[in-house]
Amino acid sequence: MAFFLSAMKASEIRSSMEKALEEAREAATLQELERVRVSYLGRNGLVSEIMKGLGSLDKSERADAGRAANEFKDNLCRVIEERRAQLQETASKAGAYFDYTLPGRWRGLGSRHPISAVIEEAARIFGRLGFTVAEGPDVETAYHNFEALNTPAHHPSLSPSDTFWLDTGELLRTQTSPVQIRVMESRKPPVRVITPGRCYRRDTTDATHSANFHQIEGLYVDRKVSLADLKGVMAYFAREMMGPKVAVRFRPHFFPFTEPSVECDFSCHMCNGSGCRVCKNSGWIEIAGAGMVDPRVFRAVGYDEEIFSGYAFGMGIERIAMIKFGVRDIRLFYENDVRFLESLA
Ligand code: PHE
Repeated sequence: MAFFLSAMKASEIRSSMEKALEEAREAATLQELERVRVSYLGRNGLVSEIMKGLGSLDKSERADAGRAANEFKDNLCRVIEERRAQLQETASKAGAYFDYTLPGRWRGLGSRHPISAVIEEAARIFGRLGFTVAEGPDVETAYHNFEALNTPAHHPSLSPSDTFWLDTGELLRTQTSPVQIRVMESRKPPVRVITPGRCYRRDTTDATHSANFHQIEGLYVDRKVSLADLKGVMAYFAREMMGPKVAVRFRPHFFPFTEPSVECDFSCHMCNGSGCRVCKNSGWIEIAGAGMVDPRVFRAVGYDEEIFSGYAFGMGIERIAMIKFGVRDIRLFYENDVRFLESLA
């Protein structure tokens, strides 16, 4: 351009500017606007030619022309930006910006929460043995949570420091055992149920404690049920859930609602019982409380203790999930951090 463009004076510069501003305002598309920008503001555009020409103007004209040239540049930049914003807005409103050739966005399929996964797997395993799933309320009566389970009023688990009591005199259940009572109140024997659900205790949260956790209760009542039946069922469950080499052992214990009562341990699935970090070098992991249903419990629900016998067990679901998936901190289950959930999937 330079060779046919002689130096422009301020008035000429201003009228070129008006023309350029008009072109920018009237650009119908972003491409057209870009062409306007390049032809005026580009490296070989008119404004840069005007700048180059300033040197050959008379001194008297040069200052004014210089000012006009700067105005040209600033005003045009501003008008182009304004018009670009307008055009982009209409374009995106019209969907004109949608690029059909881009790959789709993967939203992921998600996966079961480990607590749900353990509950579902336990339900499948016990289901193969004829157990069905029963549920009870999280807000329980003291009768179902304690009294009918032969737990005396002076028992420490009734104290306000152990249990969340409500103003109504009800409480957040401390165990899933009250569902045993509800099931027996509403059905005649034989009964064979498992009852998964949330429990609440006033525990201070740390790596292995949570005020809200989950249990699976089991109850089997029939004629001639024995502790050997309980042991066989727990051994089957242990192998199905943790692996074929896992064994179970019973240790004597006490619960108000079972007699005799046991603590049920699984042999450590990580070291096969030889001792490691997971089992704290003991070779065994405590999984459940269990025992034969106490005759006083049968009396509370109106079952004939002379005819029927049964066993019950209650196990911590987080416990199982932690050792099964190698989770060291119980709080990870409740923090809703998808990175944790994805790491297990
Ligand atoms: N409810 C007991 C607990 O929470 C566990 C248990 C259930 C024990 C059933 C015996 C029978 O510790």
